[in-house]
Amino acid sequence: MSDHKHKDEVTGVETTGHDWDGIRELNNPLPKWWLYTFYICIVWSFAYWVVMPAWPYLSGGAWTYTTGVIGYEQRNVVTNELAAIAEGRSETMLKIASMPLEEVASDPALMEVALGAGKAAFGDNCAPCHGSGAQGGKGFPNLNDDDWLWGGTLEDIRVTLTHGIRWDADGDTRQNIMMAYGRDGILTRAEISDVVEHVLSLSGRSEDTDAAARGASIFADQCVACHGAEGKGNRELGAPDLSDHIWLYGEDRASIVQTVSNGRSGVMPAWGGRLGEGTINALTLYVHSLGGGE
Ligand code: HEC
Ligand code: HEC
Repeated sequence: MSDHKHKDEVTGVETTGHDWDGIRELNNPLPKWWLYTFYICIVWSFAYWVVMPAWPYLSGGAWTYTTGVIGYEQRNVVTNELAAIAEGRSETMLKIASMPLEEVASDPALMEVALGAGKAAFGDNCAPCHGSGAQGGKGFPNLNDDDWLWGGTLEDIRVTLTHGIRWDADGDTRQNIMMAYGRDGILTRAEISDVVEHVLSLSGRSEDTDAAARGASIFADQCVACHGAEGKGNRELGAPDLSDHIWLYGEDRASIVQTVSNGRSGVMPAWGGRLGEGTINALTLYVHSLGGGE
């Protein structure tokens, strides 16, 4: 140990007084800015422990933590953020409910929400009858194709969904009943056989031209009012096109005989009143987007 006030000759800085074999240690204090930052950090950390969740501790055998005086929790932050998103979505649904469908369709952001909501609502409400891919089945129309019973514009589809088809509880339901020509005794078995032969001829499948010719005049008398002279159908009346290769109740002779003898009168529930306006519109846009929309 030597003189405490010793100064290093080269730098002019005081030494600490430590001396190892003539090597002395300069006494350079920490810079002031560093020191004050350090003190502030210490004060900050104490304040942080008090205000924010900080210390883990065992309580009754389970780990918990000090919650801090403001009770901040990230779980609450996430909950609030989710609520804000849901809020935003319901605002979007309000727009989808109140805006004209064409305007919604031309707004990609609204459409994204509408198609998502439509798809979900379809799975919940429509898939049991129309299939999860809207592919339909016997008696339940395929909604992916452009063959429409009642029309495939946005407005047509919206009306179908809102009021249903042959849904008696709705006064504005789509209504048209094909008679049960056999059961109600309007045509004989032989006449039904002939008219079915004519129906088969409309899609080029008749094997008995005589019967088909006889059937043609029965068709002209009994069927054209709804199905049209060429059997092309009529959307005002929900009468299917009989000349295409798409069949609601089966394309084979036996199925067609069954349809003509007993009628079918498929029923589709009305969804207005059961589903909100926003959901109906979302479903309309979804069904319209499936491939057959007009
Ligand atoms: C209980 C069974 C059932 C349920 C559930 C059902 N539908 Fe239908 N839907 C039908 C039947 C049957 C028809 C055909 C009726 C007819 O003969 O015209 C039909 C027809 C339609 C049509 C008209 C198709 C055309 O070619 O014009 C649309 C659109 C439609 N359904 C959409 C939906 C949507 C969307 C839902 C869900 C909200 C739904 N359906 C739920 C039975 C159902
Ligand atoms: C009052 C209108 C009306 C008349 C008249 C009518 N149909 Fe129909 N027809 C319909 C409707 C509506 C359907 C849709 C099926 C349903 O009832 O769900 C249909 C369905 C059919 C189908 C089933 C098509 C398919 O895709 O499976 C056949 C076949 C058919 N009609 C044949 C006839 C024949 C033949 C006659 C005359 C003897 C006739 N229809 C008269 C309204 C009519």
